[in-house]
Amino acid sequence: MPRPDWERFAPAAAIGQHVYGYRSVGSTMDAAWELAEAGAAHGTAVVAGTQTAGRGRFARAWVSGDGESLLASVVLRPHASVAPLLTVIGCLAVLDAVRELCGLACAVKWPNDVHVGGKKLAGVLAEGRTDTTGAGVAVLGIGLNVNLDLAQHPELAGTATSLLAETGHATDLRLAGDALFRSLDAVYGSADPAALVARWRDALDTLGRRVTVRGRDATLSGLAEDVDAAGRLLLRTDDGALHALSEGDVTLAG
Ligand code: BTN
Repeated sequence: MPRPDWERFAPAAAIGQHVYGYRSVGSTMDAAWELAEAGAAHGTAVVAGTQTAGRGRFARAWVSGDGESLLASVVLRPHASVAPLLTVIGCLAVLDAVRELCGLACAVKWPNDVHVGGKKLAGVLAEGRTDTTGAGVAVLGIGLNVNLDLAQHPELAGTATSLLAETGHATDLRLAGDALFRSLDAVYGSADPAALVARWRDALDTLGRRVTVRGRDATLSGLAEDVDAAGRLLLRTDDGALHALSEGDVTLAG
């Protein structure tokens, strides 16, 4: 792994206590996995000014300009009861951090899109593996559009937003990173799974809507009725069947 451009230790909180900062990496997910495989402690984080191979769900490219977004990945060593809820934890932490940074209220489109008025502000990516002792290890990645200037990104018009676009002022990326790690630490530490799912239900604006969910193998349409204890979407199709979905792309039908 290349030497980081900067490195920081903070007291107290586990998440974000040790942060490796890079001006540029392929993907902070890969850098964090490298640290995790080498035994990095729970909460060790990687941030980058830019990524040359950032990725989102379904291995889609995650594109961001230089220094415009908070690009972070955190090594987590979760208890089995929390492991299915890492995307939930990531999204809730983004909501809290954004509210702390600029008072902005956001919603979540299941499973991982933090948005403002339907425009994507942040994406969350959870990847899990088993370590050599059989214990679960995960990397939680978050891309938050902080100072993204949408005038420079016509390809994102109508689909993305940023803190800059919403508030009209720039936000220091290190402050944004610290707010995110503090929020992640607090949400993760509060991890009563039932309370997390209750917050998840409140944060989702997908519920109660008719949606189409495109998964790897199938596309289903119906009513997004609820989420279950693992954060999965409970979709009621028109034949009356209830499907528990753990992934997919949601399109709202109105
Ligand atoms: C998605 O919306 O599909 C999730 C996007 C996650 C992007 C972040 S940016 C930081 C971290 N590094 C990556 O390569 N991906 C995640």
